[in-house]
Amino acid sequence: MDRYKSLEALAPAATSSSNPQMASPPHYFYHDPSEAMDSDAESEALSTTSMPPFSATPSVASSRTSYDAAAASTRSVSPVPSVISMTDSVRSQIYRSKYGREFNNFSDVYALPADEEEMNRLDQQHAIIVDVMGEKYPPPVADVMADDVPGERKACLDLGCGSGGWILDVARDFPNCNAVAVDLIPMQSLSMPPNLRSEVDDINLGLEHYYGDFNVVHVRLVSSGVKDYCRLVDQISHVLRPGGLIDLAEFDFHVYDENHQRLEPDTHQVGPPWWARWMTFVRLAIQQIGGHTDAATHLWDWVSNHPAFEQPVYREYWMPICSSPTDSDPGRQLCQRLSGDALSFLRGTRPLLLGSGLAEDLVTELITHAEAEHHEAKILQYTRLQCVYARKKSV
Ligand SMILES: C[S@@+](CC[C@H](N)C(=O)[O-])C[C@H]1O[C@@H](n2cnc3c(N)ncnc32)[C@H](O)[C@@H]1O
Repeated sequence: MDRYKSLEALAPAATSSSNPQMASPPHYFYHDPSEAMDSDAESEALSTTSMPPFSATPSVASSRTSYDAAAASTRSVSPVPSVISMTDSVRSQIYRSKYGREFNNFSDVYALPADEEEMNRLDQQHAIIVDVMGEKYPPPVADVMADDVPGERKACLDLGCGSGGWILDVARDFPNCNAVAVDLIPMQSLSMPPNLRSEVDDINLGLEHYYGDFNVVHVRLVSSGVKDYCRLVDQISHVLRPGGLIDLAEFDFHVYDENHQRLEPDTHQVGPPWWARWMTFVRLAIQQIGGHTDAATHLWDWVSNHPAFEQPVYREYWMPICSSPTDSDPGRQLCQRLSGDALSFLRGTRPLLLGSGLAEDLVTELITHAEAEHHEAKILQYTRLQCVYARKKSV
């Protein structure tokens, strides 16, 4: 029976705030790797980039100095000079290997991989989400990002950008804006637009250094790496300029049936529904290390009840995990694309589950059966993406 020990029994939602063995993110600013530096310049730059996230850096896009510096270039302005290229030594500071996958080296909360397989999954997932939503951005983005304020360059911040699909779209669609992508790992696009900057940082450490600097702040599918999402919403209210837009989208780590009712299998036994049961183990494993898995459920309350925001809008999207026999051709095609995403996510949770203390044969059993159930497609199951956007009041 030990093999089936539930995660609740292992550690009931203990939230470790800091792990002394974890490195603090050095707050790197990462640019196009093609900007090769010679080794002297590189080591000098490296030594100047370790800075606490709360140091009094010039603001990213709003300070006069920053605007002056930006005048000759469309590259967004860094609080410190352009700094590093991705050498092996930098790579080894940023990544670590566990259970055969690569992870960020900074967070003791976010425990999904950060390797090529995961970046490919995020790229595909971004394309699917755009198709499902029928748009790249919520409607107010075009207005908020318009070049309509003389002397002000619009600025957009993507927190937890992953492979960067969303912020790359912004930087290309609004070429006069400053776009900033923050994550625990550097963005690895081979074609960084000149107005997009990648920063390595842990958003749990606070966003004070960005206050007043951005017109749009976007956060999507980051809740498992965020300790206190309500605080994050409050900090974003300060990061935004008046009239700016907060744009949040999260998934709640639950699985739903065809009537959109939650399936809630426990972790005291194993058996079907396998996909939903595996998700229960995943949710509890994330909670055990401090991730805010139920943030999606509270987005609306946090934003609509926040005094800084107005005109909140809620939208939700039901994503089928597997195709139904009655699906139309487009529905089946969408399911095939979602299936690749879902199976890659399933595989990516193996290290998380092993790291949570589950026995290897239990993890293998959960993942193998969940995958088989997915391919059989007899049980219709859905995930739910909950999205909220709102404007920051002008006064
Ligand atoms: C599931 S991915 C989503 C990526 C992207 N937002 C998207 O929708 O495609 C979550 C990303 O958030 C990042 N992340 C999680 N917790 C973070 C934190 N505390 N600070 C910065 N980035 C974080 C992870 O490194 C990962 O790249």
